Amino acid sequence: MSHTIVIFGASGDLTSRKLVPALYSLYTKDRGDDETRIVGVSRSKFEHEEFRKSLRESTKKFVGDLFDNETWEALSRNIYYQPADINNAEDFQALSKMLEEVEGGEPSGRVYYLSTMPQLYEKAILQLGAAGLADDTNGYRRVIIEKPFGTDLKTAQALNESIHQVFREDQIYRIDHYLGKETVQNIFALRFANSIFEPIWNHHYVDHVQITVAEEVVVGRRAGYYDNAGILRDMFQNHILQLLTITAMEPPARYDSTMVRDEKVKVLHSIRKMVGADFASNTLRGQYKGYLNEEGVPPDSQTETYAGLKLYCDNWRWKNVPFYLRSGKGMSCRTSQIVIQFRQVPHILFGHKTREPVGNRLVIQVQPAEGIQLHFETKVPESEMKTRTSTLDFSFNREAGGKSHSDAYQRLLLDSMLGDASLFARSDEVELAWGIIDPIIAAWKSPAAPPLHQYETGFWGPSEASPWMQQQGREWFDVCPVLQ
Ligand code: BG6
Repeated sequence: MSHTIVIFGASGDLTSRKLVPALYSLYTKDRGDDETRIVGVSRSKFEHEEFRKSLRESTKKFVGDLFDNETWEALSRNIYYQPADINNAEDFQALSKMLEEVEGGEPSGRVYYLSTMPQLYEKAILQLGAAGLADDTNGYRRVIIEKPFGTDLKTAQALNESIHQVFREDQIYRIDHYLGKETVQNIFALRFANSIFEPIWNHHYVDHVQITVAEEVVVGRRAGYYDNAGILRDMFQNHILQLLTITAMEPPARYDSTMVRDEKVKVLHSIRKMVGADFASNTLRGQYKGYLNEEGVPPDSQTETYAGLKLYCDNWRWKNVPFYLRSGKGMSCRTSQIVIQFRQVPHILFGHKTREPVGNRLVIQVQPAEGIQLHFETKVPESEMKTRTSTLDFSFNREAGGKSHSDAYQRLLLDSMLGDASLFARSDEVELAWGIIDPIIAAWKSPAAPPLHQYETGFWGPSEASPWMQQQGREWFDVCPVLQ
């Protein structure tokens, strides 16, 4: 069966920067004979040809060496454009007619990709329903919804309710592009395709876990959105909690969308609720110096651009193992990494003249230096029994001979066409994640909020972050990865 990808918000940045380049890249790969059409929808008036032309340039820019004229020409014959106003029901009737025309009246699967302003998601879904566009008797009908999915638990619940009036849960694909990253999917392989890690992946052996998503960039032109969102909504409710669930989940019986997501949901259920003084002792807030000068940021903004959280999963596997989560803009370098810090040996045999051994550490480098490192102690040659830390180092890039792997959107678009929702967030996941983040946001707005630390850009967030960890007998893994 052929596929039609209908992109709402087609004149936006995501379409040209990510979606069409991803569809182009998929097109260059052998994906069978299925025909795929792209239909752009937005309010702007474009002719098909004009739309194709504008996408050609951006696709060329973003796919780089992969770009080839002939391939583009072949793909672009299947790119169409339909102007529509999401508030106008007649425009959806016209879209319906147009889709039938381009599909030649043949059955075709459809993915509706909502990449509009989030305020329009609900309306767009209801209009799709009213125009009969969700009816899947003539091929699958699925909808992809970009983040943010709501701004808190209440709005997420309301959005889920509206969507469920039109689409069944198995037709809904809530995107979190972190799940499309190869290195994130590799965590499943690392944990569940090897027998050596799982036996020690628990409170008996793990001292704590650190999940860091650091960005060197500052907020820049996105200040309008960012100042209302803040880092907890922008990064924690989605990407960082997703990383946590995959790191902490139990092995599913099968790798399928229901079982994988059931296990992730159990982790979210297990996260200990913060109460009272926890908000002050288990959270850190920061704002980079210069944030208030960003265009569109109110001069007295209290929005966080950095957050550090200490969470616990109250279950058998992780009882009392802290999960330290942190993310910030304007940090030392761009790095997303998960550190599993193992416990110290029970009894230290060797005289360490200069330091205590640091214990074993497994570092999963999500990006940009995709790989895994295992840190362990070795003897310093020709010394008496002194040890130092050595590293077993796996690099995806080295293994692939320098060939980079697919962008997350390729994987996710392909899965949506194939009907595999494993790497998309289910309604309960999204709501539970908001249930964890909302109380922290509320506490940070209350008179008892912990202080908003100012920090210089180019470092690891507020200077208070290090003593906070040291008081707990631990330290942050503040290491910028080396690209190989
Ligand atoms: C987005 C956030 O979801 O993720 C951005 O809105 C952030 O603020 C981005 O910069 C990070 O994604 P990546 O893939 O570059 O780590």
